[in-house]
Amino acid sequence: MNAGIIGIGRYLPEKVLTNFDLEKMMDTSDEWIRTRTGIEERRIASDDMNTSDMGYLAALKAIEHAGISAQDIDLILVATVTPDRPFPSVACMLQERLGAAKAAALDISAACAGFIYGMVTAKQFIETGAYKYILVVGVEKLSKILNWQDRNTAVLFGDGAGAVVMGPVSEGRGILSFELGADGTGGKHLYQDEYVIMNGREVFKFAVRQMGESCINVLEKAGLTKKDVDFLIPHQANIRIVEAARQRLELPEDKMSTTIRKYGNTSAASIPISIVEEYEAGKIKDDDLIIMVGFGGGLTWGAVALRWGR
Ligand SMILES: CC(C)(COP(=O)(O)OP(=O)(O)OC[C@H]1O[C@@H](n2cnc3c(N)ncnc32)[C@H](O)[C@@H]1OP(=O)(O)O)[C@@H](O)C(=O)NCCC(=O)NCCS
Repeated sequence: MNAGIIGIGRYLPEKVLTNFDLEKMMDTSDEWIRTRTGIEERRIASDDMNTSDMGYLAALKAIEHAGISAQDIDLILVATVTPDRPFPSVACMLQERLGAAKAAALDISAACAGFIYGMVTAKQFIETGAYKYILVVGVEKLSKILNWQDRNTAVLFGDGAGAVVMGPVSEGRGILSFELGADGTGGKHLYQDEYVIMNGREVFKFAVRQMGESCINVLEKAGLTKKDVDFLIPHQANIRIVEAARQRLELPEDKMSTTIRKYGNTSAASIPISIVEEYEAGKIKDDDLIIMVGFGGGLTWGAVALRWGR
């Protein structure tokens, strides 16, 4: 049994915070942010919209798109580092609001690699036949853990949610191979105390190296080569980091998602948000080979090679 994506959905808060808005809040400039990160604007959730609210709205769309009902869901996995509270998990909150009465539910904490960790976890249950339909959500309200006085971090991140329903798909489709990894010795470079603390240069070096390597590794594991790749969906951390991954795969510019321009780094949400963006733009079609790759605090990383379609 192959496990693949059978439904997708996302939610982005309406409020747009541009680089020019940030210029008025701290000592930064649109020029600096655009040239160093690629970000032009990001979305910020309102005070009455928490992580679970955004996750719920994205999940509703994914379930509808999959053509199943919430009662069919066997497991809910929510990748987030900004849960509403330590417990109950966001996954349990979604279980109640969706009415997914039979679903088991848990949150996954793997920072910006969390959505890949979630998809790979879902794959195991589906391929063994233990579960049929699994909702995997990546959602963050990073704005609540940012120090808005710290230009090193505040300009980088945004809020949002993306969700997929995973289930059995036809032969040859779905997740063909994966890689997950962690290096706890690098945890000191990116963590939350009260706010997000980051050593940007160290994370940058790690990310450039790891993203490229993970892409190549999942291709090799699937018995494929760079030439087979149709589209790359990297975690949207910095345009220069994702460009390095694209060049490693020797892909043309239009074969990679760059939603970072509009949404900034939405951590665990960035890959599923990008999936919806690219699918709706007609960039992802049945039987396309998609590489998704992420990295983040932990340090963590993960990648999948996925053949699109049910
Ligand atoms: C953060 C990052 C954009 C910084 O870019 P960079 O080109 O490495 O910039 P540097 O670290 O060399 O900093 C250059 C200068 O810009 C300053 N600077 C930092 N943020 C700034 C901002 N928002 N506006 C203006 N100047 C800023 C720094 O203080 C530094 O000044 P100094 O040289 O006087 O100390 C980059 O390192 C990065 O993207 N790292 C990875 C971060 C990441 O992906 N995090 C999420 C992981 S999931």
